[in-house]
Amino acid sequence: MSSRWSRGRLSVTAGPSQRRPSIVDGQRSERPKRTTDPFASWLPPRPDGDPLRLLLAPMDGVTEHVHRALISELNPVDTTLDRRLSAVDVCVSEFVRVTDHVVPVAVLWRHCPELRAGGMTRSGVPVFVQLLGSAPVELAATARRAVELGARGIDLNFGCPAKTVNRHDGGATLLRAPSRVERITAAVRAAVPPELPVTVKIRVGWDSSDPVESLAAAAEQGGAAWLTIHGRTRAQGYRPPVDWPAIGRAAAAVQIPVVANGDLHTPQDVAQCRYLTGCAAFMVGRGIMAAPNWFRWVRGLDSGPPDLPGLCSVWRRYAAQLRDSGASGRSALCRLKQWLRMAAAQRTDVVALFDRVKREMDVDAVLNVVAALECRRRSSQLTISASASPGAPAG
Ligand SMILES: Cc1cc2nc3c(=O)[nH]c(=O)nc-3n(C[C@H](O)[C@H](O)[C@H](O)COP(=O)(O)O)c2cc1C
Repeated sequence: MSSRWSRGRLSVTAGPSQRRPSIVDGQRSERPKRTTDPFASWLPPRPDGDPLRLLLAPMDGVTEHVHRALISELNPVDTTLDRRLSAVDVCVSEFVRVTDHVVPVAVLWRHCPELRAGGMTRSGVPVFVQLLGSAPVELAATARRAVELGARGIDLNFGCPAKTVNRHDGGATLLRAPSRVERITAAVRAAVPPELPVTVKIRVGWDSSDPVESLAAAAEQGGAAWLTIHGRTRAQGYRPPVDWPAIGRAAAAVQIPVVANGDLHTPQDVAQCRYLTGCAAFMVGRGIMAAPNWFRWVRGLDSGPPDLPGLCSVWRRYAAQLRDSGASGRSALCRLKQWLRMAAAQRTDVVALFDRVKREMDVDAVLNVVAALECRRRSSQLTISASASPGAPAG
C-alpha cells in the first residue's frame, strides 16, 4: 500500500512502492504496513509525528559537507530527547558528474565525506549522493559504488540548467526525453539494493511545463522512490515565477510521493505550495541562506529567522568549522562571501554588510566586521537587561 497527500488530505492507493521491501528503523519487512506516511517505505518515522518531510536541496558550490552539517545542527527538534532528532529529514549532496567511466572512490569521498561516517551528517541526518549524467551503465555502477561506501540513497539530477552540463548531455537536457529519464532511473534502481531509495530530481520541463506529467510518470516507471520537482523550466533558469501548480499536476499523475521545490522561503510559502500541489514534502535551497533555521521555522518550532547579529554568529561558526575541516583561508573567504551575497539577495538588513565586505580579500577582515556586528547586539542586550533588572545600578 502506498499513500499520497492530496490537498492536505491523505488518500491511500495501491502503488508501485508497495511491491518493494521497506526499511524502517533499519529493519526490513517484506510486506510494508498500511501507513499514513508516504515516505514510510524509505525513511524512519518521525518520532515527533510531524507529517511534513523537509529536505535540504543540493546546491553546487554552496551546500558542501560543512554546510550540510551546520544546517542539520542548527535545526534540532528537541535537544532534551534521548535521541538525535533533526527537523531536516534528508540532505542531498552536490552533484557528482558521471561521464564514460565509473567515478573513483576518492571522488565520491570528496563530494560526500559523510560516506566515511555512515552516510549521515554529525546530527544523524541521512545524506543521499546525487549523480548527474546520461550513461545508464556508468551511472548504475557509480550508484552501486556509492551505496557500498555508505550512501543512504541515490538521487539523480535531471534538472541542472548549466550550458556546459547540458551540452554534454547531462542534467536538464534529459527533460526533453522522458523515456531516457525512465531508462536511466531503471538502470540505477536495478543496481542499488532494494531497501535503499533511488530518487529523481527534475524541473517542470525544458522550455514549457507541458511534459511534467510524463516526466513524473517516467520517474515512477523507472522505480523512483520519490520525485523532487523544482517548479521552473530549464529555459527559466532561476527567474520567477515559480510554477507550483505544475508540480501539483505531476503529483496528481503519479502514486510516488512528490517533493515540491522552488521559492519556499517562509512557512507561508510552504502552506501555499502545499495547498496548490497537495504535496506533504518540501525541499529548500536558497531560503536557508537567509533563514538557516528554516526547518525549525517551518515546523513551527521557531517564530522566524534569526536577526542580523544572529546570522553573524552562524557565519562565524561556519567559518570556524570550515577551518577545522581543513579549508584554506581563500576557500573560506569565497564561501562566506557567497553566503552573504545569497542572504543579501533575500534580506535587506544584510545588503549594507555585504557591500562592506564584498571586496575584502582576507577572511579575517570579513570575520572582524561580522564579529563587530554580533558584539553590538550582545552589548545592547546587556545594556537592556541591566537597565531592566530591578536591582541594577543607575547610569
Ligand atoms: C548555486 C546553486 C547550485 C545548485 N546546485 C544544484 C545541484 O548540484 N543539484 C541539483 O539538483 N540542484 C541544484 N541547484 C538547484 C536547487 O537544488 C533548487 O532546485 C533550486 O535552487 C530551487 O530551490 P530554491 O528556490 O529553494 O533555491 C542549485 C541551485 C543553486 C542556486
